[in-house]
Amino acid sequence: MLRAEELELLGDLRGASVLHLQCNAGQDSLSIAQLGADVTGVDISDEAIAFATRLSSDSGIAARFERADVYDYFVAAQARGDQHDIVFSSYGTLCWLSDLRSWARGIAQLLKPGGRFVLVEFHPFALVFDPNWRFKYDYFNDAPVVEAGVHDYVAESGLGLAPGGEHAGVKDFCNPHPSFEFAWGVGQVVTALAQAGLRIDSFVEYPYINGWKAFECMRDLGDRRLAPPEDLPRIPLMYSIAARRPPA
Ligand SMILES: C[S@@+](CC[C@H](N)C(=O)[O-])C[C@H]1O[C@@H](n2cnc3c(N)ncnc32)[C@H](O)[C@@H]1O
Repeated sequence: MLRAEELELLGDLRGASVLHLQCNAGQDSLSIAQLGADVTGVDISDEAIAFATRLSSDSGIAARFERADVYDYFVAAQARGDQHDIVFSSYGTLCWLSDLRSWARGIAQLLKPGGRFVLVEFHPFALVFDPNWRFKYDYFNDAPVVEAGVHDYVAESGLGLAPGGEHAGVKDFCNPHPSFEFAWGVGQVVTALAQAGLRIDSFVEYPYINGWKAFECMRDLGDRRLAPPEDLPRIPLMYSIAARRPPA
């Protein structure tokens, strides 16, 4: 479900051609389509794309979904001459990408002149903490951090990430596959976009996180926004970037 932050940044979507990168199971892609856009969602996961395609057909909300690695998709889409009004990406996408420069270049090349890129992400400063708010991870990382398998954070976040209804998830779920996560600093992200030729219109940091119960004792601010406990200093937990390909 789209949140107020991305809705405001995306603006009027009627008639817009939108490329949704790392769209996962397509719920946000279909919400964007419902607002009048022509949407293409791309994700590397077979299962997510199969779900998204089924959801589109079951709901009658039209959208295209393609299973692809974003880097391969950029090459193929550029060869076809695809151009979009908006490229969108949100919540937990950058940590899976190994090459920020190619990512930014791919986005810039698939935008029409004057087209916009919208990103809403978890703030890398928040990701230096373990779940108990203890400093654990370097902010600056040249190599991916190797972690135990991704846990069932959707079920652990309750209604925060499943507004359609809470579900228990898989009991005692234990993912045997380690994850390799890239901690891109905000300077690296902004620089990659600027060097790809995009003009940054806004860069906003938020003192709360949408939905994801990443840490202990989060305070519920309502509207599925979560903030650190009151005895902790206010820190940025999310950020957004709106950038634009300069008009021709
Ligand atoms: C946390 S999810 C994004 C959540 C999504 N914005 C949503 O609201 O549902 C991250 C997604 O990135 C996808 N992903 C990771 N690496 C990718 C890659 N190289 N190319 C395409 N998709 C990728 C994963 O399959 C996953 O669906």
